[in-house]
Amino acid sequence: MSGAVELGKGLHWIGVKDPSLTVFDDLFPTEYGTTYNSYLVQGDTHTAIIDTVKRKRFDEFLANIRSITDLSKIDYIVVNHSEPDHSGSLALLLELCPEATVVSSQAARTFLGNQIHTQFGSRIVKDNDTLDLGGRTLRFIAAPFLHWPDTMFTLLEEEGVLFPCDAFGSHYTGEGIFADEMPDFSGETRFYFDCIMRPFKERILQAVAKLDDVELKMLCPSHGPIYRSDARKPIELYRKWSMPKAAGRRIAIFYISPHGNTEQMAEAVAKGAGAAGVHVTLCHINHASVADIRDLMEECDGLIFGTPTINRDIPKPMWDVLAYLSTVSLKGNIGGIFGSFGWSGEACRMLEERLKSLNFKLPAPFVRAPFMPKAEALAECEALGRAVAEEVLKK
Ligand code: FEO
Repeated sequence: MSGAVELGKGLHWIGVKDPSLTVFDDLFPTEYGTTYNSYLVQGDTHTAIIDTVKRKRFDEFLANIRSITDLSKIDYIVVNHSEPDHSGSLALLLELCPEATVVSSQAARTFLGNQIHTQFGSRIVKDNDTLDLGGRTLRFIAAPFLHWPDTMFTLLEEEGVLFPCDAFGSHYTGEGIFADEMPDFSGETRFYFDCIMRPFKERILQAVAKLDDVELKMLCPSHGPIYRSDARKPIELYRKWSMPKAAGRRIAIFYISPHGNTEQMAEAVAKGAGAAGVHVTLCHINHASVADIRDLMEECDGLIFGTPTINRDIPKPMWDVLAYLSTVSLKGNIGGIFGSFGWSGEACRMLEERLKSLNFKLPAPFVRAPFMPKAEALAECEALGRAVAEEVLKK
């Protein structure tokens, strides 16, 4: 148990640490665990809790609150975002302080209604609404899709302390709670962004712009260390990571090729696309990092996939690449498919279904070739590349 930590007069961290967590939400590896940060803000007349913690850690959370104030003093519980790692303890807390009012966006209120099946006091707030705690003001900043539709930030206005919930966080647990007392955890901050925030780059830029005029002193995310110095650092990193890349018509060809046959086809596709006047990047997926693959997906106007069929299926490395498609902000949804096969050749059809389910436009049929592609198949590959490039150039 960590115990509450004073961040300033009448301002406490009351969260819990989860250093042994190895996978977050059953999705993302967390080598250094995580924290569920919650905060207690005491004004002259009212007291607010900002976000709660995972339900399993309620007892520890409750002890932290009680170490600072009596539960009867809790007037407001601000829910910046209703995912259970932050709202999981809300129902239990409301049982103990039923007079408290839950403050949230309309979307969060709707989601909470499906998580908590009892009545509770609720106040819906919109962008720039404020809440007076007596000498201290909470201002709410709508930040939808960072990373749920319900998300908002809360700003303790007079002191420039921002509580942005998941945004700018890191799955990282250390000895203390402040960023400036930790070893370098920048890799975890970037990994967190890639896993959770990356699909919402436009929304990130919109939300970050709302903070430009805020004189920020402290940044208190809901996961990982708190920034009491250089509070703008993670915000500016998010802006940089979300900025659109330079314009230009580009196609990426992602392929895997155990025997070099699909690679021959990839080169023919690239030749056709390049001749049509677009810049082409050939990417053997086993020779590129996940970050490089995702960057290409976001930077290119057309994405072409080449895969063999192995055991009547798309090989796992290519399935992994296809899974990344829903974790990035795609610039374009124009695609193409090709691949060599031995005797059954189901992979191209499966790939086609995957791309169509993601609303990809496929300007040419897929090209399949048994074993080593003949000249006719390579000519079809060139035509495929040309067709995708011409579609991209119409944009
Ligand atoms: Fe940390 Fe979206 O929950």
